Amino acid sequence: MKASFGRKTTYLRLSVTRKCDLFCRYCRDSSCSFAKDELTLSELLHLARCAVQAGIDTVRVTGGEPLLREGCIDFLKELRPLVKRLGLTTNGTHLAAHASALAATGINSVNVSLDTLDRKRFFKWTGRDLLPQVLEGIDEALRYRLPLKLNCVLLDDLTAAETEELLRYAASRAVPLRFIELMPLAANDGSSGPTGKMLRQQLTSLGYSLRPLDAALFGKGPARYYEAKKGESASCIGLIEALSDNFCSRCDRLRLDCRGRLYGCLYHRQYTDLRELLLQGAEDEEIVACIKKVSATKPQGHDLAAAPAPFSLAEVGG
Ligand code: 5AD
Repeated sequence: MKASFGRKTTYLRLSVTRKCDLFCRYCRDSSCSFAKDELTLSELLHLARCAVQAGIDTVRVTGGEPLLREGCIDFLKELRPLVKRLGLTTNGTHLAAHASALAATGINSVNVSLDTLDRKRFFKWTGRDLLPQVLEGIDEALRYRLPLKLNCVLLDDLTAAETEELLRYAASRAVPLRFIELMPLAANDGSSGPTGKMLRQQLTSLGYSLRPLDAALFGKGPARYYEAKKGESASCIGLIEALSDNFCSRCDRLRLDCRGRLYGCLYHRQYTDLRELLLQGAEDEEIVACIKKVSATKPQGHDLAAAPAPFSLAEVGG
């Protein structure tokens, strides 16, 4: 589907809940525990069908923590045949229990947030002592051959020793490890962390050589991938540099939150309320036209360097 500034929209991030069992300092705000106004999963499925009709071919289900939404697995099962690629982003705390059912949905990509392997640091950033559950979730998911990637937000207390530990962990499981530049949001008081360039320099000074890999091998998304090699150990790392490598000119996505609000950009507050259309009993054609309009009027990009985004990722879908 056509988007503004010569872009095309093919990718929908769909948040099924704002609820989350972690309280990550850089992500949450007080609205997160409020779930009363969520659409039903069949309403969200209806909207996803309309989005596919409008031209979406890839959907990633997010939250909050999507696995906390009852019926999430059945929802994924129903979505799977509608799209070329289906993904899920999870904090991993409930992954162990769902790994087998998740694998049976035929999902193409599961991203697990893993900012640290240190239990104390995990508690410091998430407010919960759940690292063992997350690690168990990752191993269980791998046992069922789920196609995993790990997401690690670049936080200001990430040491060189821990970066190496994360790389070794990812290499030992043959899972790509993506480092994400911390985006300043109103919810995290506009704080930011190390840049992707700083990470690359850190890796070089630790003796790693970085060889660029073809990003197309890793699915959609703005990450740049490298093989990080030191001696016999090689890991695949990704860098998502939302701040220092603004990728808005390549942005191919829309975001639908669990209230039915459709956003053209993570950074801008403006949205179109698709719930209103559902309540009015609008025909699918009308909803499809509305989705196309949001795409056609996508803002040119973010300005995170000038001011933090006015909301949390948990609110609009991580
Ligand atoms: N900056 C960067 N990444 C963030 N995430 C949540 N909040 C932020 C932020 N402020 C990450 C989560 C998850 C991914 C979808 O987004 O850790 O892995």
